[in-house]
Amino acid sequence: MSGEQVSDEWAGWRRRVDLEEFHQRWVRMEASGHAAHGEADLIEAYRPASVLDAGCGMGRVAIELSRRGIDVDGADLDDELLAFARRDAPQLVWVSGDLADVVLPRRYELVALPGNVMMFCRASDRGPIVANLARHLLPGGLLVAGFGLEQRADAITVGEYDAACVAEGLTLEARYATWQRAPFEAGDYAVSVHRLPAEHRSGQPWRRIPSQVLPRSLFGGIAAQKPRRVRCGRCRRGGGR
Ligand SMILES: C[S@@+](CC[C@H](N)C(=O)[O-])C[C@H]1O[C@@H](n2cnc3c(N)ncnc32)[C@H](O)[C@@H]1O
Repeated sequence: MSGEQVSDEWAGWRRRVDLEEFHQRWVRMEASGHAAHGEADLIEAYRPASVLDAGCGMGRVAIELSRRGIDVDGADLDDELLAFARRDAPQLVWVSGDLADVVLPRRYELVALPGNVMMFCRASDRGPIVANLARHLLPGGLLVAGFGLEQRADAITVGEYDAACVAEGLTLEARYATWQRAPFEAGDYAVSVHRLPAEHRSGQPWRRIPSQVLPRSLFGGIAAQKPRRVRCGRCRRGGGR
């Protein structure tokens, strides 16, 4: 597959880009000492013990966070990009699944959406992705997303993204124009930090998912299966899209 399973936008990007060359470009940028890890710098500043890199692609951000000692997993729908991540960091957990409905057996202090995931996903999946990722946050956890604000009619806006977050009980904590925390002035890129209140219970009522973190070997086994669709016993959401 070459990105069609993700979205037309993503398939278009994939047609224009040679993945091996793209990967090498990042390797060269890193080796040159160029500041290649703005996303990891901002995420690390929040001192999360655990991170889900949602839409991890080749694992660029997750691998850097792991280097910095953070417990991180990655998830993406594009298996060809995940193959680079698995090759570069076989010791990490890489989950193949759709962020709109994948069910992971643990929750995280921070879920990150770096690298335009919300721009490249299907427009109809934006709300379900935010909802599903909010369910993977520990109480008090952070959802951190960076995406471009394009001019096209169906492009995501910060208003649409904020509304999806508010619907899940998340509140906007900060918004920047860059990962280096330049002030946001309604430009063409936004980094948004939303928090799930510490007392929020949306992370609690899932049935059939253990409340404690499973051993990573088990996690790998579960991730290899088709993602399960599990209904929330309390609010009846989460069964499908
Ligand atoms: C531009 S890439 C960014 C990759 C990585 N976050 C980075 O910064 O290097 C966007 C990624 O979002 C992923 N993506 C988009 N929609 C998705 C979905 N519904 N489920 C899982 N991954 C998705 C694509 O497969 C792609 O890997």
